[in-house]
Amino acid sequence: MKADLLVTGISQLVTAQGAGPKRGSAMRELLILERAAIAIANGLFVWAGREADWRGEAADTVDVHQRAVVPGLVDPHTHAVWAGNRLADFEARVAGVEYEAILAAGGGIWSTIRATAAASQEELLSLARPRIDALVRSGAAVIEVKSGYGFTPAAEIASLDAIRALGNRTPARIVPTLLIHVPPQQEAERGAYLAAVCERLIPGAAERKLARAVDVFVEREAWNAPEAERILKCARKHGLGIKLHCEQFHNVGGLELGVKMGALSVDHLEACTPDQIVTLADSQTVATILPGVSLHLGLPAAPGRWLIDAGAAVAVGTDLNPGSSPLFSTAAALALAVRLNGLTPHEALVAGTVNAACALGLSDAGRTEAALPADFLVLASSDWRELVYTLGANPVSEVWIRGERVGT
Ligand code: NIG
Ligand code: FE
Repeated sequence: MKADLLVTGISQLVTAQGAGPKRGSAMRELLILERAAIAIANGLFVWAGREADWRGEAADTVDVHQRAVVPGLVDPHTHAVWAGNRLADFEARVAGVEYEAILAAGGGIWSTIRATAAASQEELLSLARPRIDALVRSGAAVIEVKSGYGFTPAAEIASLDAIRALGNRTPARIVPTLLIHVPPQQEAERGAYLAAVCERLIPGAAERKLARAVDVFVEREAWNAPEAERILKCARKHGLGIKLHCEQFHNVGGLELGVKMGALSVDHLEACTPDQIVTLADSQTVATILPGVSLHLGLPAAPGRWLIDAGAAVAVGTDLNPGSSPLFSTAAALALAVRLNGLTPHEALVAGTVNAACALGLSDAGRTEAALPADFLVLASSDWRELVYTLGANPVSEVWIRGERVGT
């Protein structure tokens, strides 16, 4: 076998194996190879195994000096394109004002929508770029980015255009999602807005391939389940995947709708009930949990432990956004999932790699298998568990995407 590059000196090579979501106890099954090496050609893994078993020829060799290697992380949920800040909200919330009350009064998400509308495309890009760079430095090789702070169809398309441009300015693979975030504040305008979403926004985004999926925020202060069903049916009709923000504060039918419609993922789940855990575990939908939100808003943590024990496939993301989760590290999201949601270190790695890829409908990310893009992380430590143990420092020493070392 011929390779462009052989990476040697790997103390532990740790990866999930095989495409498809890992559910329940399968989330604890990792391949851990000691004294390993990986070979890369044309940006793809071509071989991974024990260093002593390598029999091929490599044009180049890099020795990582007894450090652990894991697959590049997949961040399956971010809102990285926004302008303005939510520091006044933050101060109000720590003084006791609730997130939903700020939103209902026209602040919160609405204040970010106003600031985003006032920003130029170049400003949006220069604000988003360092956020993506921070996620990459923390280990993310694949990053989902949602629109949702545009509100009007034109502004949503402009956000999706910014997300596409972002994808050309980062080595990470950017996976775009159209988020139908909040309805008009005037009840009477909801119907016309829904019609514009279904007749213009979704078809326009689908035609220009600006989004792979459509996400809807289902909540008392956002869309109700019948409205979300209409939006998601339209998304499906245009060949797009579907996702939901649901069970964040209240149970208003989002999870059941997502399961019924075969959503790629339902995300948040802080308010998920025991019956809903069973419903989700019996479905094909990935349960994406977002511990940064629990930390930042002081919400109860999503029941990650119970979801896995019931047999669900759990993924973890940062939910990077200015209002509910200013968390700029994908590795830290995994570390928080261990502390707040009760995941084991093995489960957290699976949740941040192969399962997160499945939440995006991807089968070629989050594993170090031959023929997949050569996305991997050289950790600072010889023991891979430092990835989900470390708080407040970067456990990732090198990020490699498509066989190239990334400098951000
Ligand atoms: O994932 N819950 C709805 N949307 C985002 C927060 C958006 C914001 O507060 O700006 C979330 O939590
Ligand atoms: Fe979100």
